[in-house]
Amino acid sequence: MRGCTRCGLRAGCSGVVFGEGDARAHLCLIGEGPGATEDELGRPFVGAAGQLLDRILAAAGFRRAQVYITNVVLCRPPGNRVPSDEEMAACRPRLQRQLRQIDPGIVVALGGTAVRALVDPRGRISQTRGRWHQLDGRWVLATYHPAYLLRNPGAKNAAWADFRMVVDLYRRLYGDPGPGA
Ligand code: URA
Repeated sequence: MRGCTRCGLRAGCSGVVFGEGDARAHLCLIGEGPGATEDELGRPFVGAAGQLLDRILAAAGFRRAQVYITNVVLCRPPGNRVPSDEEMAACRPRLQRQLRQIDPGIVVALGGTAVRALVDPRGRISQTRGRWHQLDGRWVLATYHPAYLLRNPGAKNAAWADFRMVVDLYRRLYGDPGPGA
């Protein structure tokens, strides 16, 4: 994948930002694509939005190493623009393969791009968040992207309600996630 040429993004970024976490995780979180910090450090969700995601996960009782975190596209779109439909389509077989391999029962779609990749190609976060969707036998919940929450702190309560739904289902399916970070 390091030399992937399925779309033009690889040519304009520093490197492929692979997902990370437990390769057998029951819970997988999927963002949009690497930002500048992720591109520089080669790890997903390590910039400001990633730090907020870490705090949300810890408050929900999850350690980061216990879940799997990846993105709809693995290469940073220039200037952090939203990946195009073609770029998302080019990375889709990789995302589908990973979901099959990791086989999480619960997937959280972080933001509109992940909604369009996982729930509905024309979906909007405002209409899809807060309720469960099904994808290939997995439960998918959409919620606001942490970068959106940084810009719109008023949406944090709704995002927290979404994460409570994730914890409740996780408990029912797999037991207590644990004490968090
Ligand atoms: N935003 C994303 O969608 N993904 C990351 O990895 C970082 C920021």
